[in-house]
Amino acid sequence: MTSATEIQATDGAAPIKEPMLIGESMTGGYGSGADILHGCTIAVDPGEIAVIVGPNGAGKSTAMKAVFGMLNLREGSVRLKGADITALSPPDRVAKGMAFVPQTCNIFTSMSVEENLEMGAFLRRDDTRRTMEQVYELFPILREKRRQAAGELSGGQRQQVAVGRALMTEPTVLMLDEPTAGVSPIVMDELFDRIIEVARTGISILMVEQNARQALEIADKGYVLVQGRNAFTGTGQELLADDEVRRSFLGG
Ligand SMILES: Nc1ncnc2c1ncn2[C@@H]1O[C@H](COP(=O)(O)OP(=O)(O)OP(=O)(O)O)[C@@H](O)[C@H]1O
Ligand SMILES: [Mg+2]
Repeated sequence: MTSATEIQATDGAAPIKEPMLIGESMTGGYGSGADILHGCTIAVDPGEIAVIVGPNGAGKSTAMKAVFGMLNLREGSVRLKGADITALSPPDRVAKGMAFVPQTCNIFTSMSVEENLEMGAFLRRDDTRRTMEQVYELFPILREKRRQAAGELSGGQRQQVAVGRALMTEPTVLMLDEPTAGVSPIVMDELFDRIIEVARTGISILMVEQNARQALEIADKGYVLVQGRNAFTGTGQELLADDEVRRSFLGG
């Protein structure tokens, strides 16, 4: 299976298609430790949902951190709208339109829901009330609970706070590491519906998911990572239809 996002070498004058965001051939690890990523490539286009799946410890979170600038890459690059951002710090990437919801510790539990959303907008100097209104429209329960400490909310509601906080920066790319971790299947479905809604507004979604089958159902692009390498890449439907992917990663 070839990568749907591969930059095609073209023979004529046709332009080379550059994805909206790409971490290309990323190799690197933590500090001076061994490499965790080995030539890993992840990309997403505007309004698309790209999903990264793979076994525990495959390097999914590490790939996300690399794309967000939390890892020093030894090889490869990260480009946003064609511009090389490999050397930019995470806050500089936020200023360029990237938002990242990490796998753990993604909210301030002792702060209220609304304070969490306000924290998300700390880089902005313009009026953020309209964005907050949009977040409350997307997640009505957060409006109801806006004065409550975020730590008192259910798992699914906390994830809504985390996603809402990220949306407060008005990102063009929203990166989510396991947004449905620890929630019930019903809450998972609801969160996926909201994520689809966000993508329809033109925001690119790059997310890691352990609910691989359900996530690939809604994925325009899917990446199976194994030991820091791209094992399979395709549309969500292609991966769901692939015998080997099903046998090895989707439980048959
Ligand atoms: N902060 C860190 N410092 C050093 N090594 C780390 C760090 N975080 C992760 N690793 C190592 O990197 C490898 C990949 O971990 P990573 O968290 O990226 O995997 P993952 O695919 O996200 O797994 P999971 O499904 O459990 O979330 C593992 O061997 C892990 O031990
Ligand atoms: Mg992880």
